[in-house]
Amino acid sequence: MTQQVIRCQDEESGLRGVIAIDDTTLGPGLGGVRWLAYPSEQAAEDEARRLAHAMTLKNACADLPYGGAKSVLLRDDRRGADDAAGRRRAQLRAFGRCVQRLGGTYIPGVDMGTSVEDLAVIGSVADEVSCQQLDPSPSTALGVFAGIEAALIGTGRRVAGARVVVQGVGHVGADLARRLAAGGADVTVADVDADRASSVAGEIGGRAVQPGAALTAACDVLAPCATAKVVDAATVGSLRCSILAGGANDVLATADMATALAARGVLYIPDFVINAGGVICIHAVRADWGEDKLEESLLAIGDRVARITKEADRTGRTPLAVAEEMAAHRLGRPVGAVG
Ligand SMILES: NC(=O)c1ccc[n+]([C@@H]2O[C@H](COP(=O)([O-])OP(=O)(O)OC[C@H]3O[C@@H](n4cnc5c(N)ncnc54)[C@H](O)[C@@H]3O)[C@@H](O)[C@H]2O)c1
Repeated sequence: MTQQVIRCQDEESGLRGVIAIDDTTLGPGLGGVRWLAYPSEQAAEDEARRLAHAMTLKNACADLPYGGAKSVLLRDDRRGADDAAGRRRAQLRAFGRCVQRLGGTYIPGVDMGTSVEDLAVIGSVADEVSCQQLDPSPSTALGVFAGIEAALIGTGRRVAGARVVVQGVGHVGADLARRLAAGGADVTVADVDADRASSVAGEIGGRAVQPGAALTAACDVLAPCATAKVVDAATVGSLRCSILAGGANDVLATADMATALAARGVLYIPDFVINAGGVICIHAVRADWGEDKLEESLLAIGDRVARITKEADRTGRTPLAVAEEMAAHRLGRPVGAVG
């Protein structure tokens, strides 16, 4: 149950948005600002609530002093492009005023549709804002790499020689593809931006395939680093990977997909565990950590993945169920109360 939902509206700039604060047991709600078109305000609110809850799980599992929150701003595609940049800035400032009125309960960051520059605009009116100077994506990629390495080792393989398909080679995916290739993996990439895919493939000595082929490619690891809800009832039967582990949020369209994947022998590493490098990086900046401490904490994602997969093996539960239990412990909730 979401703790608080705040509607953000500003007539002058046309801002319409919602902030969902899921849980502040461990600290202020930390979570990104998503800027997308939605069919309705209710659809935006539902998305914000769901994503805010995932942030509670992510911050709890990563042992960070933050709760979970998310905001969604409704992009209005019906309005013309006239002065789009000016209007965007005005909306972001209006949103910043809304964040400021919450007195630090919500700390916004970058998410789909927003950039470091956008967060700097929000930060010009709100005191508590993350990602104003630093893109956390390289940290996210390093954490995902550590998690993939742990999952491979846990199943008797290594990064060197593993066949990995990276779906989406944007900020996180490109960096991950480079790390995997440097570690000796046989990397295939796919992106709806074909030029980007072939440029990354060329750079790392890998292959580029059509976006539609990524999900069904035979591989050791499929690393979704693009969109949400990659695995649903329609796609789960066609996956040919043995490990599903990537940077994307919200990989499973519904939680029961975790059981469907396990039944097909696919080891699913929960997204909120493996892609926590970004929030760890945000905390490192806020807590003034040095590079070494940040790196150590990012690599610890690998240890966490190893612990979760071992416990899942031992108990016959899914890694998702084990990770949710880990979050419940940290939040002081009964097991099963946070899924
Ligand atoms: N950036 C971070 O630090 C961070 C942290 C945690 C989670 N995530 C999640 O990771 C994912 C990627 O984030 P990012 O910052 O790299 O985004 P990005 O926008 O930089 O990259 C996404 C890439 O995916 C491609 N893409 C979109 N749809 C695709 C499809 N159907 N098939 C193949 N490629 C497709 C885009 O062209 C783009 O190159 C998102 O789901 C995001 O929510 C990112």
